[in-house]
Amino acid sequence: MNLTDDTGRLYYVGGCVRDEILGLQPVDIDLCYEGDAIEYVKECGYEIIKTQKNIRTAKVLINGKEIDFASTRKEYYPKTGHLPVTTDTGCPLKDDLIRRDFTVNSIAKSVKTNKLFDPTGGQNDLENGILRVHHDKSFIDDPTRIIRGLKFSLRFGFKFDNHTENLKEEYLNNVNYDISYSRLKKELIDCFNLNRDEGLNRFINEKIYKLLSVQKPQKPLISIEKLTAEFKVKNPWLIYLGNSDLSKLQLTRSETKIIEEFNAIKENSNPYKICSKSDIRSILLWTAFVNPDKGLHYLRELRGVKPAITGQELLSLGFKGKQIGNILDNIWEEKFKNPNLTHAGELNIAKKYYRDN
Ligand code: CTP
Repeated sequence: MNLTDDTGRLYYVGGCVRDEILGLQPVDIDLCYEGDAIEYVKECGYEIIKTQKNIRTAKVLINGKEIDFASTRKEYYPKTGHLPVTTDTGCPLKDDLIRRDFTVNSIAKSVKTNKLFDPTGGQNDLENGILRVHHDKSFIDDPTRIIRGLKFSLRFGFKFDNHTENLKEEYLNNVNYDISYSRLKKELIDCFNLNRDEGLNRFINEKIYKLLSVQKPQKPLISIEKLTAEFKVKNPWLIYLGNSDLSKLQLTRSETKIIEEFNAIKENSNPYKICSKSDIRSILLWTAFVNPDKGLHYLRELRGVKPAITGQELLSLGFKGKQIGNILDNIWEEKFKNPNLTHAGELNIAKKYYRDN
């Protein structure tokens, strides 16, 4: 996006500057105005879609694209682990940069001159692949940063510097569970959607799971990365976390359903039948954490297999309620042993049931 600015006070900040320096295409741009961003976009004559008056941000439409303009701001955390409170807008840019998570995300680039403003050594850390927090209370203020660190580490191969690593370990030995989990959940989703077994290994080995609960999750029996790639699952995060204690994450109804299906498959003596009515993610959870052999057999050979005969058909043949259920169960079982069983073969099972009962 080619923006222009005459004031010299408008900056690209955060992830988009980091990505550009790394030679990557930025996903979205964040803009920061050293002053009042709402007044600024009004003066520029941009079409304003929405403003947030208390923190002086504005969403505007430029060439059909929605762009956020933030005012520089200072923040503090009256309640650690919860959303910060803004104390000052229009403050010097440096104050805005040092409220952020890591030095590599605290570089600004002037829209007018393209010059970088990097008061905390972010470029140097980028060059060396280092994630460094700005102060010792950083993870206490916002523990989400530990997951963000894991995300950037998986995505770019970055490492925490020694001091930041020590602060992380200190925090994980003394976790505050009275925090806002919605932001943590978003970062966990981002992190595990990178679909890397390394993420889960590190989540467990580095005790990052403690952000969710004291209970250590079980490791999967096979590679989730390979599994989700083979069966083309787009957003695999829940499969990575499904064996963790998720009670704090406020799962949506569809996420809860996946976990319930996983438990049902796990506990049922006839798991294939439950699989046939379940979301692929529930089946992959069972495959990865409970029974890889049966799970893979189901996924590769039996998915989509179901009786050709219907309950209605059995009813018209004179069978009644419970009998129909039993016959269909027998057919399901046979069908999973022999997926090529024909409609006629299924009818034979019904007839046999009639003879035997
Ligand atoms: N930020 C922060 N602390 C957080 C979240 C965000 O300091 N818990 C700051 C960082 O400077 C970050 C910027 O806000 O670069 C934008 O946040 P976000 O879009 O979430 O991060 P990105 O770095 O752009 O990461 P991604 O590429 O995954 O979007």
